[in-house]
Amino acid sequence: MTYRRMGLNAVIFGLGSHEAGWRMPESDPLASTDIDYWIDIAQRAEAGGFDALFLGDVLALQQSADRHLSDAMDPLVILSALAAATKRIGLIGTASTSFDHPFHLARRFASLDHISRGRAGWNVVTSSNALEAQNFGLDAMPEHDQRYVRAADVVEAALALWDSWDADARIVDKEAGRYLDPGKIRAVNHHGPYVRTRGPLNVPRSPKGRPLLAQAGSSQAGRDFAARYADLVFTVQSSLPEAQEFYADMKARAVRLGRSPDSLHIYPGIVPIVAATREDAEARLAQMSSFIVIEHVLAKLSEFLGADLSGADLDAPLPAHVGTGAPNQSSQGRVAVLVNIARREQLTLRQLLMRLASGRGHLLAVGTGSDVAATMREWFEAEAADGFNVMAPVMPHDLQSFIDFVMPHLSPAAI
Ligand SMILES: Cc1cc2nc3c(=O)[nH]c(=O)nc-3n(C[C@H](O)[C@H](O)[C@H](O)COP(=O)(O)O)c2cc1C
Repeated sequence: MTYRRMGLNAVIFGLGSHEAGWRMPESDPLASTDIDYWIDIAQRAEAGGFDALFLGDVLALQQSADRHLSDAMDPLVILSALAAATKRIGLIGTASTSFDHPFHLARRFASLDHISRGRAGWNVVTSSNALEAQNFGLDAMPEHDQRYVRAADVVEAALALWDSWDADARIVDKEAGRYLDPGKIRAVNHHGPYVRTRGPLNVPRSPKGRPLLAQAGSSQAGRDFAARYADLVFTVQSSLPEAQEFYADMKARAVRLGRSPDSLHIYPGIVPIVAATREDAEARLAQMSSFIVIEHVLAKLSEFLGADLSGADLDAPLPAHVGTGAPNQSSQGRVAVLVNIARREQLTLRQLLMRLASGRGHLLAVGTGSDVAATMREWFEAEAADGFNVMAPVMPHDLQSFIDFVMPHLSPAAI
């Protein structure tokens, strides 16, 4: 029997994963640009036993930016500061393959791997929001599957650039005046369908050789991409059977590509709202929900689903036609998850909107530390997860509650 250990990744989207979390009394919305806020979270996550932390990113001030917090500083800049303020925790940053050049990307992540002494990770995203495209001079996002073709091209080029230095290329022979051994660095001459680069990189080989690669594709093209390149697969799953199916599918895809199934780690997201009693946890969820502006979430759902829901009856089920047409060009995985939740649980549109605002479609776990830990262990043991993306709804409160209430039940001694 092989030993499996549950991995834990603290996910940080701005001030937390809850749409209206910034309105909670204890939240400090201006902290999003204060480095002390980020350092505090990173140090809490590290001291609390997390393996890694992860910063999401979208390259645009988003729709309805006047109603929620969507400003975002560059994740790699934040992670550089966090590298100096932490010692052990992994530092995963999001960067898009749709707008950036692989030379920039490879160089930035190699630099982060150096300054963190081997703790860098790249969450490879293809981006999906039209506002992002417009910020880079395009009218709309390129077609969904073509974005993955470009992503593979960019990642192949970055892998080659990271490999363009041998670990012992710097011979530093002061007497002979030779800094590098030219036989130990090489051009990569990558000529792909979208990007070209000569190389070599101008950063020596990093401690890990390359950053850890995370990816969250759920569409067929996205799953194929993740199975080929990812070490960590992030996913949105809201029920155990669906999570098991996804887990088995991803491991099988990796095996078909000649990889060991253990080289690919599947991390569903969990949104924990934890307190000393179930009543307190439910009350906290209710308080967060009271701050949600329903019209704003409706606009967001319409965007995700590629369907205008502005006139729809909030107290009726999701209209039958939604999710049945041709796949849209946005995020296909997210559409499937949201439509499945609505149909399976027979939610009204209003209930679905509350679910989206509270947990972005991820597993919402409300209860005591032992309740939440039991759910996580069940998913882990049932091969639905190798680890979890812990998506605290309001930072730092819910991250700290997770550490205080759930972590003790997840320690090896408790399992
Ligand atoms: C935990 C998690 C974090 C994600 N973070 C980001 C992000 O920071 N930026 C982004 O553009 N997309 C992010 N995504 C979206 C994915 O990159 C991807 O577009 C989505 O899962 C849909 O995949 P598909 O296009 O293959 O359907 C995230 C997804 C998950 C599950």
